[in-house]
Amino acid sequence: AEVKKYQFDIQVKNVSRLCHSKPIVTVNRMFPGPTIYVREGDRLLINVTNHAQYNMSIHWHGMKQYRNGWADGPAYITQCPVQTGQSYTYDYNVTGQRGTLWWHAHIFWLRATVYGAIVIMPKIGVPYPFPQPAFEFNLVLGEWWNDDVEEIVKQGNKLGLPPKMSDAHTINGKPGPLYPCSEKHTYAIEVEQGKTYLLRIINAALNDELFFAIANHTLTVVEVDAVYTKPFSTEAILIAPGQTTNVLVRANQARGRYFMAAGPFMDAPLSIDNNTATSILQYKGTPKTIIPKIPKLPLLNDTTFALTYNSKIRSLASRNFPANVPLKVDRHLFYTIGLGINPCPNCQNGTKLSASLNNITFIMPKIGLLQAHYYNLKGVFTTDFPDNPPTPFNYTGAPLTANLGTVQSSKPRVSKLEFNSTVELVLQDTNLLSVESHPFHLHGYNFFVVGTGIGNFDRKKDPAKFNLVDPPERNTVGVPTGGWTAIRFRADNPGVWFMHCHLELHTGWGLKTAFVVENGPDSDHSVLPPPKNLPQC
Ligand code: C2O
Repeated sequence: AEVKKYQFDIQVKNVSRLCHSKPIVTVNRMFPGPTIYVREGDRLLINVTNHAQYNMSIHWHGMKQYRNGWADGPAYITQCPVQTGQSYTYDYNVTGQRGTLWWHAHIFWLRATVYGAIVIMPKIGVPYPFPQPAFEFNLVLGEWWNDDVEEIVKQGNKLGLPPKMSDAHTINGKPGPLYPCSEKHTYAIEVEQGKTYLLRIINAALNDELFFAIANHTLTVVEVDAVYTKPFSTEAILIAPGQTTNVLVRANQARGRYFMAAGPFMDAPLSIDNNTATSILQYKGTPKTIIPKIPKLPLLNDTTFALTYNSKIRSLASRNFPANVPLKVDRHLFYTIGLGINPCPNCQNGTKLSASLNNITFIMPKIGLLQAHYYNLKGVFTTDFPDNPPTPFNYTGAPLTANLGTVQSSKPRVSKLEFNSTVELVLQDTNLLSVESHPFHLHGYNFFVVGTGIGNFDRKKDPAKFNLVDPPERNTVGVPTGGWTAIRFRADNPGVWFMHCHLELHTGWGLKTAFVVENGPDSDHSVLPPPKNLPQC
């Protein structure tokens, strides 16, 4: 094992896209930011120095950070922000994981431009469980706004309305030639006929679940969220914000140029943001003047494709890569997802849009929850979630207003989990205001997606249909519109772990909570002491 060091300088830089130029926050003046290459078993030391006038914090999305929440990154959950002029070194071991993950800013909406790929290679001498590709490419999907994103969000908050939709989708920061002034902002890869390539696809978009396809080429899915899957082929993939998907592509077509395209799935019904980002797959020796073919992406509202696609994702569940699904459940949790309206005296209309779990809108603390937990500081949070919901929730044919009232507690309310206990969490969408999937992300863990369905979860009938053999193991899962998703995990990683909808819009509205996982029986199974240069609030 090696120690890999990276220096991340947070700097503002002018970037132009879609005929507009604006200053954006970057890492090392790169957009997207640098890719982290590391090998399973290595230790990473990433020193973040903040030269910008924004507070910063970086999350290593999908890294398990065993006992080491200090390196996880969500601002006010595991650390205070890195302030202007300060530095903080994220120091962690990459153990028991290999595949594609990513990193992003985890404060305000700064991840709009502060993000990059993480490639974890398997240990030396350990091959992939699929044919060795000739070459690998990273495709990081994102969203671009012509105006300053933090300003747009501030405006939205003032009015109590959703901020303006993004102006483009992007692939590796580039929208591609279907957008104005974007000919020169087109990402391209070159392939040789007959060879097979691995594409590491990451959805770094803030609010859009995306379809991705390549004209004339079939994709073979081999990994999601840095866990190998049983290979299956598909014309398109669906990928939610936070998720990663590795696909193999065989260059088995006539020499030419083919578009790789990303476009949105099912957003809010008001969405007009149905633009497609494109990049080019170019066969060696093809003139660049040839106009590429465009792939057909599933339609914006193709929920059938979405459900079918997601049902094909299965863990390898092999001898080398077993699926250790908890079969016995110690703790059953049931969270309803609601979108509603809260009073807002300071907003123009006196109300603001809010989101909730079990009708509770999560309030951010003023200091990191992990510090509060570690030092046993009283009064920062309560551990009574989800018990005693303040208003009863009823999503079964109830009048529309039943789920609109969300309650804002005065302090963050979290759930406490006993060390090494097994947890089953059912996330139930209540779908009364709008039509969207909610990509739920749990920090510090992978979980098994044992079941999903449309309508209300039926505690009597649905568990019998759970897949406990080869369910997908992920860190982010889309809870379908008007449906439910059941996940299981073993609470073997002590600390404080954030869980939230990875649509930045909904996170901002309060669609989030945290788990406090208690220490194990000895110091080897307890939270590590904090690093010396941990930022203070
Ligand atoms: Cu990718 Cu809490 O985030």
